[in-house]
This record gives sequence, C-alpha cells and structure tokens, in this order.
Amino acid sequence: MSIDALFSPFSYKNLQLKNRVVMAPMTRAQSDNGVPTQQIVDYYARRAASEVGLILSEGTVINRPASKNIQNIPDFYGTEALNGWKNVIDAVHENGGKMGPQIWHVGDTRSSEDYPLVEMEKASTMTLEDIQDTIAQFAASAKSAKDLGFDVVEIHGAHGYLIDQFFWEITNTRTDEYGGKTLKERSRFAVDIVKAIRAAVGEDFTIIIRLSQWKQQDYKSRLAATPSEMEEWLLPLKEAGVDIFHCSQRRFWEPEFEGSDLNFAGWAKKITGQPTITVGSVGLEGDFMAAFAGQGTEKADLSELIRRLERGDFDLVAVGRALLQDPEWVKKVKEGNTDELLNFSAESLAVLY
Ligand SMILES: Cc1cc2nc3c(=O)[nH]c(=O)nc-3n(C[C@H](O)[C@H](O)[C@H](O)COP(=O)(O)O)c2cc1C
Repeated sequence: MSIDALFSPFSYKNLQLKNRVVMAPMTRAQSDNGVPTQQIVDYYARRAASEVGLILSEGTVINRPASKNIQNIPDFYGTEALNGWKNVIDAVHENGGKMGPQIWHVGDTRSSEDYPLVEMEKASTMTLEDIQDTIAQFAASAKSAKDLGFDVVEIHGAHGYLIDQFFWEITNTRTDEYGGKTLKERSRFAVDIVKAIRAAVGEDFTIIIRLSQWKQQDYKSRLAATPSEMEEWLLPLKEAGVDIFHCSQRRFWEPEFEGSDLNFAGWAKKITGQPTITVGSVGLEGDFMAAFAGQGTEKADLSELIRRLERGDFDLVAVGRALLQDPEWVKKVKEGNTDELLNFSAESLAVLY
C-alpha cells in the first residue's frame, strides 16, 4: 500500500495544505470560562508540529445566550476568548500548521445537569429576531476567525445541534419561512448563515460546513434517504457559498445509498463537485460512540481509506481519536512507523496532551 495519496498537497482558493490529513473537531471543554488557556495553545501547536495538514478546533460557540452546554467550552467572541484564540493560531502557524475554528450553537441540547447551579429556561421556539441575531453572530465569529489570521472557518451543521435541528423534520416544526415539509425549505437557516458568513469574510476565505445524517438524538435517523434528497440539501448550500463539505460518519467505509459503495463524502463530492472531507474511525477499529461509554479500541490499517482517496471519492481525511490519543499520529504514518501507532484508550478523553 502506498500512502502517497495521503501526503500529496491540497490546494483550493487561498488554502494550501501540505497533506490530506485534517484534525477532526473534538470538544475538550477545558477552556476556563470559555477562554482558551496556554494548555490549549500547546495542544494544538503540538499537532501542527507533527504534520497535521489542517486542524479544526473543538466546537467553539457564537455569542448567543444558550450557545453552549458546558461552561468550559471555548467562546469565539469577546476580547478575552479571542485573544486566547489568537495565541492558538499564532502558535499553530509558528509550527507550520493551518487551522480553522469550528463555530457552533448547541441548540436544544442543554440540560439542567449541564448547569446545576443555574435555573435552566426550557428551550423555546426561536423568534425571527432570535434567528436573525443568531445568523449575524455566526457571521461575526467567522469574521473574527479571518481577522485573527485563521485559514478557514467550519460551521457545525451536524450531530443534532442547532443547525441540524432546523434540517430535521422531527425538531423543526416551524410554520414560517424557516420550516417546511421539504429538506430544502428546512435548510433555509443554514443557507442564510452561509450567505451571511460569505458576505462577512469575502470570496477567498474558505468556508467548510460539517453535516451528518445521524443525530445524537437518533443514530439511525437520515435527512436524505436518496441521492435526489441529498441534492436538495447540498446544492443550495453550495450556491450560498460553501467551499468544502465535511461529511460526518461514524465509520467512513459505510456506503451511503444502496447500489454503490460511495460513502457520504463520496456522494457529496459527486453531487456538488466541491472538495469533501471524510471522517469516522480512520486508523481505528471501533467507532467513537464507544469512547463515551468508556471503551478503547484497537488501531486499524489504512488500506481501505487509501483505496477510496486514490479513487478520488473525497479530498481530505479527518482523524479524531487517533490524533487525540497521539499528537504524532500523522508523522508516524508518513514515516512508515506504523508499529509505533497507538491503540485508543478512553482515558485519553480526560487528558489534554
Ligand atoms: C471527545 C470528542 C469530542 C468531539 N467533539 C466534537 C465537536 O466538538 N464537534 C464535532 O463536529 N464533532 C465532535 N466529535 C466527533 C469527531 O469530530 C469525529 O467526527 C468522531 O470522533 C469520529 O472520528 P474518529 O472515529 O476518528 O474519532 C467529537 C468526538 C470526540 C471523540
């Protein structure tokens, strides 16, 4: 097996990456009251120094009252937090890396257990004013990312959080222009966010959107049951200004629709013609939900991933737990030191190394 495909450069608009490996966004919730610490700076810089092509930050939230569900999730607004992020991107650049924040709103996933000392308001339907302000705050965070010197921005549109709650018919029961019977109608919120971000950052700055069929509320759920429904979902997002589709699966090798072995990223690329990122158990046997149940998993080889990458199914490959476990994962793969790759241990979730 040749790993050359993984280590060929990638170029799109103003974005130049030295290889195809992306660090997947992983919430660590260790930013004191929302401000990234020196430990966080070192954590990302270490991955940049060990050849990760593009780092996507942990989910970092926009300036809305209920945008986070854990106090120490980092903010992407306000002078103190943005100064913290400036330290992060400067350190990543000094170590030869590229990076973008994943900007996020958790929507109706907060519970009183998350904030035991605070009286929780029950989530309610957003007013049109709430929606307009949320769109504006996504754009403001994206603009801050550009101003701080980040290389890209990623919108978190996946996994059952706010944007995905608009996509999903179960959670979006609105009767105004942000709801509707079709996925296309329910995509309007995301489309407006992308348009507002594009207007704020200009044409050249790369916008990534992360999408998933699955939701944390229902892993079997699917937004697009057919390729034509997927077109209805993705093409308006492309039109609005999305550059790269980050297609979240738990296991990258699983086909998206019957009759083809293409995965989600494969279909997204075929449908939109845009670059795509695949993700899900790269370099590991078991998927990431087991990690939250306290289970580790064994390392796995990369031949199936490389086969799909060489075939041109997708352009970039995001790696989550393997890079959380081992900052030097990319370097070891590149140098062929596969015997030094580590199994994943769930205890690593608590450590910021
Ligand atoms: C500890 C942890 C935190 C995560 N936090 C986020 C997040 O903030 N945003 C997001 O889009 N996905 C998040 N994910 C999902 C990962 O980005 C990735 O899609 C998933 O772990 C599958 O990749 P892997 O099998 O290589 O770990 C998280 C996963 C883990 C393990």
